[in-house]
Amino acid sequence: MLRLMSSVAVIFCAGFTVLVDGSSWWSLAMNPLLIPEAYIIGGQPLCSQLTGLSTGQRKLCQLYQDHMQFIGAGAQTGISECQHQFGQRRWNCSTVDNSSVFGRVLHTGSRETAFTFAISAAGVVNAVSRACREGELSSCGCSRAARPKDLPRDWLWGGCGDNLNYGYRFSKEFVDAREREKTFAKGSVESARLLMNLHNNEAGRRIASDLAHVSCKCHGVSGSCSLKTCWLQIADFRRVGDALKEKYDSAAAMKLNSRGKLVQVHSKFNSPTSNDLVYIEPSPDYCIENKTSGSLGTQGRLCNKTSEGMDGCALMCCGRGYDQYKVQLVERCHCKFHWCCYVRCKRCSRTVDQFVCK
Ligand SMILES: *[C@@H]1O[C@H](CO)[C@@H](O)[C@H](O)[C@H]1NC(C)=O
Ligand SMILES: *[C@@H]1O[C@H](CO)[C@@H](O)[C@H](O)[C@H]1NC(C)=O
Ligand SMILES: *[C@@H]1O[C@H](CO)[C@@H](O)[C@H](O)[C@H]1NC(C)=O
Ligand SMILES: *[C@@H]1O[C@H](CO)[C@@H](O)[C@H](O)[C@H]1NC(C)=O
Repeated sequence: MLRLMSSVAVIFCAGFTVLVDGSSWWSLAMNPLLIPEAYIIGGQPLCSQLTGLSTGQRKLCQLYQDHMQFIGAGAQTGISECQHQFGQRRWNCSTVDNSSVFGRVLHTGSRETAFTFAISAAGVVNAVSRACREGELSSCGCSRAARPKDLPRDWLWGGCGDNLNYGYRFSKEFVDAREREKTFAKGSVESARLLMNLHNNEAGRRIASDLAHVSCKCHGVSGSCSLKTCWLQIADFRRVGDALKEKYDSAAAMKLNSRGKLVQVHSKFNSPTSNDLVYIEPSPDYCIENKTSGSLGTQGRLCNKTSEGMDGCALMCCGRGYDQYKVQLVERCHCKFHWCCYVRCKRCSRTVDQFVCK
């Protein structure tokens, strides 16, 4: 009995550490050292000053210092897109806790955690792929992707494209390093979470890569477009966010099987592919504040009285009801264009009703 108790305690503690540092490379998104100027001027070795890196990530930082700024930017893009996608929902992708950017909520292996891992990994793919194309990195350049078979024969292939191949590989190496350097007993709770993280990182990278597309530019006499040059282009990140949001909605609940692999809880559904999101735990209750789960609760959140969706007061306030306030909005209005060239506007104020969850 005593043995059992102590092994439970160990698992709990180990699990705690794993999950805390499982999220921390995202803190690069906020790191002032990675502002381009600071990065060049800073005399101290950059990698020793960055917090939140695992041992393997610190090694990669030393080898690829010039990449770090783009990893930070990629994480930031991912976080902003997450906040756009979830802004009107109970969990709004808020970032509160300093140590892990997203706070304790990510300690749970939930759908939301799955989304967050995927979108961050996707952000790094796009940022690094573009940095290659722009000549910002010493170890990569323009894409060398093969000419697409369906490209019309008289169009030129070979404008400098985003290097998705490199961006994908670097994101895999860097982002997954943290998970790959851990070892857990097969079948343990921690190993399930590790597999979940790796799966979702990969899904994010694949979605970002798959959405990359061919972009072309016209040449020729005064816009005749007799000649086109084409190249590979990363997708607009909003499209990546929209696609991952759909994956979030259809994410698959998983559990460990006896061989230590993740398998679907509901075996009647098709197994998730490498492009799908997976999760292993139910979401915390986002309605009420809970310091243990990290949920902030929805008290004080704005809601929409007439909407029946997640942003509507009924769902957002979880049945607790809402308070109504009148607020004055001041806006630019009656704007006139003056020759030449400025726009002059009046300021109009109007009173609107605001609804706030109890
Ligand atoms: C976050 O860090 C800042 C300064 O580093 C500190 O003032 C603040 O209290 C911290 N917030 C939390 C929630 O830990
Ligand atoms: C807070 O969250 C923890 C962990 O998810 C849960 O066990 C507990 O019951 C929750 N507390 C409340 C008051 O809901
Ligand atoms: C997100 O939710 C938290 C807690 O409910 C709230 O404090 C914060 O203002 C919200 N953020 C946005 C952008 O609505
Ligand atoms: C509230 O929801 C309704 C119905 O979905 C929508 O038409 C309206 O624009 C929303 N209002 C605000 C302020 O978002």
